[in-house]
Amino acid sequence: MTTHRIAVLAGDGIGKEVIPAGINVLNAAAGRDGFTLEFTSFPWGCDFYLRNGRMMDADAVDQLLKFDAIYLGAIGDPKVPDHTSAGELLLPLRRRLVQYVNLRPVRLLPGISSPLAGRTAADIDIVCVRENSEGEYCGVGGRVHAGTPDELAEQTGIFTRRGIERIARYAFKLAAARPRRLLASATKSNALQHSMMLWDEVVERVSKEFPDVNYRKYYVDAIAARLVTHPQTLDTILCSNLFGDILTDIGSAISGSLGIAPSGNINPERTTPSMFEPIHGSAPDIAGKGIANPVGAIWAGAMMLDHLGERAAHDRIVAAIGRVFAEGEMRTPDLGGKATTAQVGAAIAQAVTEETRQPA
Ligand code: NAD
Ligand code: IPM
Ligand code: MN
Repeated sequence: MTTHRIAVLAGDGIGKEVIPAGINVLNAAAGRDGFTLEFTSFPWGCDFYLRNGRMMDADAVDQLLKFDAIYLGAIGDPKVPDHTSAGELLLPLRRRLVQYVNLRPVRLLPGISSPLAGRTAADIDIVCVRENSEGEYCGVGGRVHAGTPDELAEQTGIFTRRGIERIARYAFKLAAARPRRLLASATKSNALQHSMMLWDEVVERVSKEFPDVNYRKYYVDAIAARLVTHPQTLDTILCSNLFGDILTDIGSAISGSLGIAPSGNINPERTTPSMFEPIHGSAPDIAGKGIANPVGAIWAGAMMLDHLGERAAHDRIVAAIGRVFAEGEMRTPDLGGKATTAQVGAAIAQAVTEETRQPA
């Protein structure tokens, strides 16, 4: 029997609540599809920082390299500056594990109502391919003359031909394999005449390798509006690191809640483990109440199984989420219900298990 070794970083806040719900569902799917998951938990995150003065062990990357994949909850706590928690754990892991693709499906699942009036599951089926290793998030810059009237801050965006080319090629391949063969690139070359002009030029060149894909560029402000007004016209969205961050929070919101959308930080060459997490954060405003929506984490877990070659288990979990929402009132408060994280998680796990009695 195949065993997949998973490193678990539940992290902070609601990460600690949604990840256990996810693990239950993943184990249910493993039972159905005949493989085993071996989970190893790491205590890294803000509590670890408050005890040890660092977000994770010095050799964290080496430790993680031994796993097949990483399952992450959320990182961030009001007691630790956010640029420390993100800047010393999340972003370095994405970069050092060469997870240059951040894949973020945005789908309105059956049974969930969108805040967009009249929209149904048929209207919102998008996948965002977010550049995940450079761009606005490269961390280059600095501050001088701190605290004086001459204080200056510089934050540089670094865009490389190689970086743009590899993310564009990944996105076009994905778009070519989806039924609508539609790719929208989010740009801002009208204002960012250096970085985004290079982005446009490289994307345009890569587009020629994929004549079957209908490619269009949109300015990021316009595509943000389009996500709200005409989501049915969008399929694969290719975007830079910062643009993708913002567009996918809109995407999750139009799919019902920030608690819905999953994401995969992917190393397509598989030289390092990929890392799967919901797109939401640690939600300090609701942490500890047991009411966080676990769907983003569960769905991210399903993406992880897909990445590990367990496509049937992925499909089974996504179908189970859809069935639970379509058939009952089992939903957390962000979706207008009264259920807890654990109850929704258990219902989805049960839907995965029950399916074993029916032909798939
Ligand atoms: P957030 O996503 O944590 O929360 C934004 C809003 O959405 C809050 O009102 C929250 O209650 C709600 N929400 C989020 N997830 C939910 C869920 N699963 N169920 C129900 N409601 C949910 O974003 P924020 O408030 O901007 O950031 C809080 C902290 O999380 C910060 O420290 C930030 O840096 C961090 N963060 C981490 C990640 C990550 O680990 N990948 C992602 C985003 C933010
Ligand atoms: C996300 C988060 C992170 C990002 C933050 C915490 C740095 O918002 O995963 O979407 O911007 O990538
Ligand atoms: Mn984000």
